[in-house]
Amino acid sequence: MQRIPEPEMMTGAEQVRAYAQADFEEPNALFSARVLDQAPVAPAACVDLGCGPGDIVRGLAAARPRWSFDGIDGSPPMIEHARQATPAAAAHRVRFHVMRIAAGSVPPRPRRIGGYDVGLSNSLLHHLRDPADLWAVLKDWLSPRAHLFVMDLLRPDTPEDAAATVNAYAADEAEVLRRDFHNSLLAAYRPEEVAAQLDAAGLAHLRVEQVSDRHLMVWGPLTPPSTP
Ligand SMILES: C[S@@+](CC[C@H](N)C(=O)[O-])C[C@H]1O[C@@H](n2cnc3c(N)ncnc32)[C@H](O)[C@@H]1O
Repeated sequence: MQRIPEPEMMTGAEQVRAYAQADFEEPNALFSARVLDQAPVAPAACVDLGCGPGDIVRGLAAARPRWSFDGIDGSPPMIEHARQATPAAAAHRVRFHVMRIAAGSVPPRPRRIGGYDVGLSNSLLHHLRDPADLWAVLKDWLSPRAHLFVMDLLRPDTPEDAAATVNAYAADEAEVLRRDFHNSLLAAYRPEEVAAQLDAAGLAHLRVEQVSDRHLMVWGPLTPPSTP
């Protein structure tokens, strides 16, 4: 099935409310477990690109009290939700920024001193007009020794498979969320397409792994380990 792009930003009030209230516990746990398993335990500065309502950031912040987080999203209502849902006690190390990853240019990094140690992104890649922008921002914003973790949906073989996936995982969700989920599946990439993006970005050493029936993940060190 050919990829069908979907709108970039999620700014509709109903759309943001439905997304923030939806049950993403399973994919969020899948993503966070990989981060907690593979990223260094030492204090780390993390950035989450396309953080949405900030659920992943808040979960990781609770698990890693010595890490700090910048969540980035181009949608003001998403960031407003993320800020309101974050406990005041975490505000000194969990910050959210309205910032759009725009085609062909890398925005200034919110962290002023040094690059990030950990780069995160879940379900942003398929939204971008040009997927190269995500890899360019990660390369620019992360420190050379950083680790990155990017998860996204996996495009099904047919529109019928996409509809079946929506029914299997979002049967009880709001109609607007079911529609967005369906459109996201049609806009998602295949593993070989992501591998080609990585190759073009100079990140061919990173793995692309199918991690569920509907998700793929790219993870590993930003800089390839040196060969003897
Ligand atoms: C499907 S949501 C994922 C949210 C979050 N990462 C999660 O896992 O729940 C995608 C998010 O990416 C944001 N987004 C889309 N295009 C963007 C861009 N060009 N720059 C910044 N954020 C963008 C949307 O506004 C939305 O909040």
